[in-house]
Amino acid sequence: MKILVTGGAGYIGSHTVVELAKAGYSPIIVDDLRCSQEIMLSGLKSILGKKIDHYAIDAASQDLEKVFIDHPDLGGAIHFAAYKAVGESVQQPIKYYENNILATSNLLKLMLKYEVAHYVFSSSCTVYGQPDILPVTETTERKPAQSPYGRTKQICEDLVFDLMQGGAKLAPVLLRYFNPIGAHESAAIGELAIGVPNNLVPFVTQTAAGLREKLTVFGDDYNTPDGSCIRDYIHVTDLARAHVAALEYLQKGGKIQVFNAGTGQGSSVLEILRTFERVNNIKLNYEIGPRRSGDIEKIWANCDLIEKELGWKAQLGLEEALKSAWQWQQTLNAQY
Ligand code: UD1
Repeated sequence: MKILVTGGAGYIGSHTVVELAKAGYSPIIVDDLRCSQEIMLSGLKSILGKKIDHYAIDAASQDLEKVFIDHPDLGGAIHFAAYKAVGESVQQPIKYYENNILATSNLLKLMLKYEVAHYVFSSSCTVYGQPDILPVTETTERKPAQSPYGRTKQICEDLVFDLMQGGAKLAPVLLRYFNPIGAHESAAIGELAIGVPNNLVPFVTQTAAGLREKLTVFGDDYNTPDGSCIRDYIHVTDLARAHVAALEYLQKGGKIQVFNAGTGQGSSVLEILRTFERVNNIKLNYEIGPRRSGDIEKIWANCDLIEKELGWKAQLGLEEALKSAWQWQQTLNAQY
């Protein structure tokens, strides 16, 4: 079955393409590579032993219709294509609103026109803001988003809720990701941080590789056991598998629309650094700095619903994730 994957050359998208292909689907990538590079496509080819169908077009543009015309037998779409840098979204909200919301409405409009019902959306735990009770379940109230990026995720979720309210012929699953880290076991694909990384783990691997002098831990005065922020870090391969499980759920007629995708375990920034050092036998140069504005103190997921309904559970741990992230950095070092 053919599955359209917008942002399929990106970090989570590329790992999902691998898991889709392994499960017998035929992924079709739509990605104009503005946030990615050729290395991801060549990595996919080396993992899968074949070239994956790829359209270098903007998911927010009218050109997207070509994919629907070329493939009248599409079985569903997984939508990743979006900007995701929280800090940048504060500086450039229009860039985020325009791209993230337009790409989503454009894709959904075409799905309705061509009667492609199965839709899996890349949402985020950022829609919860700082929750009052942990862990967060899918019924935890969505708080006002902390950033324009987060707001675009909420709006893209709302668009789906509104469509369903209006009786649209759509069968959606919104996956609220926690913090994806790690890379494919082959080290042929991973997180490409173009410029200064925004996220913790690429910053860690670049510091370990000597590309950055040191890493700053953003605050150690939070109300957490070691004072640093807590997140639910999930191996990207596990997360990729959740998308395949979501498609299978939709094919069986599943009706629940929102699922958390995390591990159910919180880890602090300092735990991440220490685990990275231990499993890779590397000393990291880091210092404690001030809090980063907009950061929430702690969040982790309750994943009972996704386990019960989709039969999906994270299987890989922090150690595997942080080892694979370091192996991927070696691939990048060799390449650039
Ligand atoms: C946020 C969103 C997530 C979104 C992601 C996109 C929340 C809870 N999470 O992740 O949904 O998909 O952005 O990029 O809103 N840190 C350091 N030093 C660094 C970098 C990070 O200490 O150099 C710390 C941060 O303070 C944070 C943790 O590491 O506590 C993780 O940060 P990051 O990887 O940027 O992800 P989030 O901000 O949690």
